[in-house]
Amino acid sequence: MSFTSDHIDTECLSEDTAGLTRAAALLGKGALVAFPTETVYGLGADARQGEAVAAIYAAKGRPAFNPLIVHVADTQSAKTYVEWTPAAQQLADAFWPGPLTLVLPLRPSHGISSLVTAGLDTLAIRVPAHPAAQALLGAFGGPVAAPSANPSGRISPTTAEHVATGLEGRIAAILDGGPCNVGLESTIIGFDGPKAVMLREGGVSAERIEQVLDQKLHTYADTAISAPGQLLSHYAPRGAVRLNATQAHEGEHLLGFGEIAGTHTLSASGDLAEAAANLFGHLHKLDALGGAIAIAPIPMTGLGRAINDRLKRAAAPRD
Ligand code: TXA
Ligand code: MG
Repeated sequence: MSFTSDHIDTECLSEDTAGLTRAAALLGKGALVAFPTETVYGLGADARQGEAVAAIYAAKGRPAFNPLIVHVADTQSAKTYVEWTPAAQQLADAFWPGPLTLVLPLRPSHGISSLVTAGLDTLAIRVPAHPAAQALLGAFGGPVAAPSANPSGRISPTTAEHVATGLEGRIAAILDGGPCNVGLESTIIGFDGPKAVMLREGGVSAERIEQVLDQKLHTYADTAISAPGQLLSHYAPRGAVRLNATQAHEGEHLLGFGEIAGTHTLSASGDLAEAAANLFGHLHKLDALGGAIAIAPIPMTGLGRAINDRLKRAAAPRD
């Protein structure tokens, strides 16, 4: 499956000053830059620019919006986006920079696009150790959302060549930092009150984390946290959701698209990247108004598939 037909000339950048400056400038413009981390290559976008984040899904051909990990240069920066805890500090002291991701509640005024979190009120965040990732994050000076830099359903890339094979022509640049030395995605740890929860096994073993925290890790089965995949499908507005609506019925607020204008409109010009960037934010705003939500039809092309996937879940019968 391919979401984009437009061919872009993908720049190959070296991890020298010129390459890093160029990569940071491209991120600032909302373009996609693949970069090395110690785990796998990430497909990076400025996490504050919704349309840039939407472009990640388009380039990967991902048919659903899953929450993404945000990469920052250091613990200090991480604390500006999430509610920090003593356990988070212990883990950051022990494993950052490195292959560990922490899921923590978002702080107010965090500025992160809701497409990064897929509408959740928590954020997955990590400080990568690879020198080129560190240099890029330092040069860019902002949060970078990045899933693995491979087309959806394909194997994660551990060299710049792997990235080029999968995404050449679909992304602005690849920063070549040689092979990744961990080669396995980061371990993801979440929290349920005082319980630390293993959300994904990865580059840091459970045993090492248990040693640092001096407690057994929980699996998501014995906590209030769902598996990341399930968690996503659980987000739904409080009110009923009706799809493919051309107008609002009594008691409904309309989420518009294209020629169908609503209380809020995903994209008046029918731009699917703009619509994706607005999706979760607009749903939250309509939900806050109370009542039911009617949603204009979204075409099943390009990013429209992922948008429709998400809307179908929001409209699904509730337990
Ligand atoms: O090593 C890695 O972690 C690589 C490199 C590029 O940093 N990134 C990576 O990202 O593996 P991705 O998008 O493939 O995996 C993100 C995982 C997903 O399983 C997602 O469900 C989970 O993180 N996740 C993200 N935000 C979450 C949240 N708020 N709560 C629970 N899980 C979350
Ligand atoms: Mg992946």
